[in-house]
Amino acid sequence: MISFKNVTKKYGDSVAVNNLTVDLESGETVVLIGPSGCGKTTTLRMINRLIEPTEGSIYVNETDISKINPVELRRNMGYVIQQIGLFPHMNIAQNVGLVPYLKDWDESKRKQRVEELLNFVGMSPSKFYHRYPNELSGGQQQRIGVARALAADPEIILMDEPFGALDPITRATLQDELLQMQDKLGKTIVFVTHDMDEALKLADKIAIMKDGEVLQFDSPENILRNPSNEFVEDFIGKDRLLKRPEYIKVKDIMIKEPVTIRPERTLTQALEKMRLHKVDSLMVVDESGNFIGIATSNDVLENFGNGGTVIEITRKEFNHVTEDANVNQVLSIMAQGQVGYVPVIDDDKRLLGLVTRSSLVNVLGKS
Ligand SMILES: Nc1ncnc2c1ncn2[C@@H]1O[C@H](COP(=O)(O)OP(=O)(O)OP(=O)(O)O)[C@@H](O)[C@H]1O
Ligand SMILES: [Mg+2]
Repeated sequence: MISFKNVTKKYGDSVAVNNLTVDLESGETVVLIGPSGCGKTTTLRMINRLIEPTEGSIYVNETDISKINPVELRRNMGYVIQQIGLFPHMNIAQNVGLVPYLKDWDESKRKQRVEELLNFVGMSPSKFYHRYPNELSGGQQQRIGVARALAADPEIILMDEPFGALDPITRATLQDELLQMQDKLGKTIVFVTHDMDEALKLADKIAIMKDGEVLQFDSPENILRNPSNEFVEDFIGKDRLLKRPEYIKVKDIMIKEPVTIRPERTLTQALEKMRLHKVDSLMVVDESGNFIGIATSNDVLENFGNGGTVIEITRKEFNHVTEDANVNQVLSIMAQGQVGYVPVIDDDKRLLGLVTRSSLVNVLGKS
């Protein structure tokens, strides 16, 4: 959807963006993050030709944007910036309806669109339609900024630290609203921020920039789990994974070959196997490796004299997870069921592994 091909931007001898090649997919939110001066704004503004590259090309839907009239290009992209985004001498309706106006929409269609957008960003049209930007709080102004960017229903929205000047609570609210909006509208959003928490919250992909280059371009989860170098690691903060157990996947922490037993085995055999492997429970699986339940040492010992088989004492009511579940889901299953084990099962019910309390303690303790 948006492709940078060897894009460089120089100011005199100094390089703001250095040989950038990256593809942004349609419908994704890509967050550009990095220290001040690393080239985020320059990268963003090259997409709507507010800045022209020194070398290289940028394509939108396979069209080289240097061949598109820049005014036309900008009308088809939303652009939201920090503060001063709104025109002070225009009222809210005029601000929001600006691009439709420039696109010559007739008045009734424009009015309808403005009202729809004000409602969409949670600003009552009857209250705000005729107000001026200086009569709005910072958060309200940013909402209007977002509404204005959406006005002509552009495919692409560029946002340069749109929430940077807001207090943390307003900021969190607007982030939530942006996420909801993105669920509904599926725009391609390029979002610049300084704030890693904001990036992790909003991004489908994060580009970590330094000195005009993208050091890593990946999903938030891959960046957290496999930072490509020391700078990225420092930048995301070493303890961040610990604070975000939702990024730790079951497949990374499960015991891959839990001790198993077949349902037709005797309790003596079960006890032997527990002793041998020093475990207090066995995963009961059938001949094709499908999970049936769990046999615990307590249950084996209590029923030992009766000479039965494993299936008779197997507990089958265990909640299980898939490999892609995260640690939070496991923790909540353990808390709800007061259990210390959660089996990991694929779609065909095959047993893949086991998460135990101690495997959780290991991983959470280590990171
Ligand atoms: N018009 C200009 N003339 C000369 N140098 C510029 C100009 N605009 C930007 N630069 C330089 O280009 C580099 C990248 O600037 P850019 O605005 O893209 O950084 P940024 O990552 O957005 O930083 P911040 O987080 O502070 O907004 C910086 O070193 C900056 O000083
Ligand atoms: Mg900037």
